[in-house]
Amino acid sequence: MKAATARAIFHDLAPEPESFRDLVLEGLSRRDKEIPCRFLYDERGSVLFEAICETPEYYPTRTEMAILADCAPEIASFIGPHCQLIEFGSGASRKVTLLLNAMEQPAAYVAIEISREALQHATDALASRFPGLAVVAVCADYMRPFDLPELPESNGGRRLGFFPGSTIGNLNPDEAKLFLEGCRRVIGPNGAMVVGVDLKKDAKTLHAAYNDAAGVTADFTLNLLTRINRELGADFDLARFAHDASYNAIAGKVEIFIRSRADQVVTVAGRRFRFNAGERIHTEDSWKYSVPQFHELATRAGFTPAQHWVDPGNLFSVHLLV
Ligand code: TRP
Repeated sequence: MKAATARAIFHDLAPEPESFRDLVLEGLSRRDKEIPCRFLYDERGSVLFEAICETPEYYPTRTEMAILADCAPEIASFIGPHCQLIEFGSGASRKVTLLLNAMEQPAAYVAIEISREALQHATDALASRFPGLAVVAVCADYMRPFDLPELPESNGGRRLGFFPGSTIGNLNPDEAKLFLEGCRRVIGPNGAMVVGVDLKKDAKTLHAAYNDAAGVTADFTLNLLTRINRELGADFDLARFAHDASYNAIAGKVEIFIRSRADQVVTVAGRRFRFNAGERIHTEDSWKYSVPQFHELATRAGFTPAQHWVDPGNLFSVHLLV
């Protein structure tokens, strides 16, 4: 008898491994050192990020899940049957099941994710959980132009892009506008987008969310150095660096850094980099928006806000854009 385990169709469009090396060396050579945040998500980084989502302080994941559970039926009836659901940065593909469960005969789920291992696990699990659904895994950096593979027949269904987790907040407003314009091309004239956006709020709540007491977020941030040590032959001593995140209320973003605890020299791929005590490597920004501010951004990117949902505590928003 043939094994009946459903598998996702896998497309590997991931960037060449040397781009990690080049970008790290280039980023560490700058006066203001920085490393792009997508490199935080190697296999261990993805596991640690899932653990961040479970910490009591990190409210975005569970708040967004609760909003999605409530509004999924409305989104499903808006988009109609045989929808092709396309998720940008799918991670563990957990939130999308809330939409898939509510939808009428979804035709396809396309997961775009840079972390190959996370993508493989998540899409195979989803394919067995939704037997009638065509599951397409695309290993790619969705911020760089790539062609979506040909999708299975959808019987006239519409395309729905899904970008949860306030990942849009990890782009600056100009990049976010470009990203949304790219989404418009992927979903086509008849498509729609569901975007999760973290709201502006008091600095204390935000500070706690990015500095959990158990130190999971610190492990996640510093895992980037472990990855560089392993993959690029570097000698970062993790005890001499610290996670550093705080809310910049004027700019409206949480800024995340790796801070050097001492004057030191680190060798990466045969090159030496000097760190002064207190010097920081910028790893990520997490921009926060009010509802009107996000509407303004979406409108500038050519979308029309159709509807939005917010939790009772006013922490997080989910937007439907057409
Ligand atoms: N997209 C998440 C956010 O901005 C990512 C994230 C959460 C994160 N905590 C982090 C990224 C800590 C770097 C460091 O909320």
